[in-house]
Amino acid sequence: MPTPHDESSGSPALEEHRGISRKNLIKAALLAGTVPLLTGGGVALARDRAVAAPNRPLSATPACHDGDATTLTNIEGPYFKPNSPLRTNLVGAGLPGTPLTVSGYVFGRDCRPVSGALLDFWQADDNGGYDMNGFTLRGHQFSTAQGAFGLTTIVPGLYPGRTRHIHVKVQAPGKPILTTQLYFPNEPRNSTDAYYDRRLQMTVRQVGSGEQATFDFVLNVTGSPTPPPTTPPPTTPGGEGTWAPDTAYQAGRQVTYGGQTYQCVQAHTSMAGWEPPNVPALWQRL
Ligand SMILES: [Fe+2]
Repeated sequence: MPTPHDESSGSPALEEHRGISRKNLIKAALLAGTVPLLTGGGVALARDRAVAAPNRPLSATPACHDGDATTLTNIEGPYFKPNSPLRTNLVGAGLPGTPLTVSGYVFGRDCRPVSGALLDFWQADDNGGYDMNGFTLRGHQFSTAQGAFGLTTIVPGLYPGRTRHIHVKVQAPGKPILTTQLYFPNEPRNSTDAYYDRRLQMTVRQVGSGEQATFDFVLNVTGSPTPPPTTPPPTTPGGEGTWAPDTAYQAGRQVTYGGQTYQCVQAHTSMAGWEPPNVPALWQRL
């Protein structure tokens, strides 16, 4: 693994803060009596409402219509690798570290869950190193029909110049990619890391010898986006053919789409909205 170095040398600038955080607005709604408390205390976030009524569109809260409430972008840093494995558990056998789960929901700006959103996570190991040769502590997954995601991993280690963080790219089907980072509360380096933003801080609680974290993403989309219309194309008998939805593709399979050739890098069943140009984690352009 490479020697960790200061990610602040990465080029993208941290997005400027505008407006009030979504959680604070939800807290304000809570105080006004418009958002129910959870059993056991705590602030009822939008994700909790999704759990309570997974099959019903969520009613709007004041935060849901706040254009400033989408999840902030944050630097990508130098350690992203495309084509991560499709998996929710990033912990291989014998990997040291404090167990950590991260769960939450992906919402649109109207607070409706976004299903089929791609979440691609990558992070440092317990010693603060990134695996640039393989895919240790790297993986992508798709949000469920209720917009939920769940990650099993370890608490990332520290490395020079940064506070503790997890990298992630989130993309609603056919929409732009949100690149950001998730942070941990009560970290001494939070106050000195120029990229730390408390609005990207997870809610973390200690459970036994591990930690459970939650975070909801809010994308600049309206609910589950309507997939672009697709016409099932004819396939060449015995040949690779043109990409089509609802088709099981194996790794290595080549298809054409929009006049370009793509190779499947991860076995999956295709769906409308996941055309090869939209999901680089699944298709590599040749
Ligand atoms: Fe990093």
